[in-house]
Amino acid sequence: MSGRLEKLASEALGELSGASVIEDALQVKTKYLGRKGSVASLLKELGALSPEERKKAGEAINAVKATLEEAFDAKIASIEAAGRAEKLRNERVDITLPGRRVRPGRLHPVTQVMEEIEEIFSGLGFDVAEGPEVELDYYNFEALNLPKDHPARDMQDTFYVNDEVLLRTHTSPVQIRVMEKERPPLRVIAPGTVYRRDSDITHTPMFHQVEGFMVDKGVTFSNLKGVLTHFLHSLFGEKTEIRFRPSFFPFTEPSAEIDIRCVMCNGSGCRVCKGSGWLEILGAGMIHPEVFRSVKYDPEEYTGFAFGLGIERIAMLKYGIEDIRMFFENDLRFLRQF
Ligand code: FA5
Repeated sequence: MSGRLEKLASEALGELSGASVIEDALQVKTKYLGRKGSVASLLKELGALSPEERKKAGEAINAVKATLEEAFDAKIASIEAAGRAEKLRNERVDITLPGRRVRPGRLHPVTQVMEEIEEIFSGLGFDVAEGPEVELDYYNFEALNLPKDHPARDMQDTFYVNDEVLLRTHTSPVQIRVMEKERPPLRVIAPGTVYRRDSDITHTPMFHQVEGFMVDKGVTFSNLKGVLTHFLHSLFGEKTEIRFRPSFFPFTEPSAEIDIRCVMCNGSGCRVCKGSGWLEILGAGMIHPEVFRSVKYDPEEYTGFAFGLGIERIAMLKYGIEDIRMFFENDLRFLRQF
């Protein structure tokens, strides 16, 4: 018995040392220590021995069994450890490689200028209002003193949805919507997207405007001048020269266009100001009595001013951009500069 035991043990240990994966080690374990394995069949033979021999042989078999179990456990642990080490080697991170730079997102230049304008007017106590981009003809034109056959409708090439519905061509309809709902005193700006059939280096079919208006008893043209001068000085600097020029809008009377000294050439004349030294920056005027009548305000009791400006135009001047279409091409090399 002891000879067979020794042989069994050395065979088992030999096979075990040849196993390089866990499956092989388990197979060897089953072969020797399993319920039908070699050790189990030796134990079955004990019944045929005398009680004394049985005790001795039993102890010897159990000792071999314990040795083998220990060897198997050690083998499996060492295969597992080798696997872990291999995995760590493969997944090693080279911490000396330079990282990938994460570029933070930023606001579109049009949004930046829009927010800057809102901030200046909030400082003067203006509220912010909004209106729909798909608008009724009534609000975009008729209530602004532009009846259906008015020739000034041609000044704003319109995208019509049908006879009564259009894409708003300016933010002025928000004046009407606010005045219909509220009573003076009013100090409101209305930023938003507008649409016109227009496309060249200074015009795009979709662009942004900010409307502003103030209505109360006794509002005068000098209030308009004061507010717009403060606004333009805040935006372009205290030293910027400003001039008011007579103009025409159906919804204001009198009307004016406001120019600033060309920020590119400082007034000496360049391509951007077409040699004039001045840049047109916004339209404005005293709200027309017909506009007040359409919202049931008494023009004898209230007066007010209104103005409208193109945000892209201002962003172009602030940042020296010569082609308005750059704003909408979504070229990251352009957008990252702001
Ligand atoms: C108006 O739209 C008037 N509603 C402004 C106004 C409001 C006057 C209140 C009086 C009282 P105008 O059509 O000039 O006016 O447009 C205003 C500004 O929008 C222009 O100065 C220009 O900067 C900008 N603009 C006009 N068309 C385009 C376009 N296609 N693309 C980009 N900007 C444009």
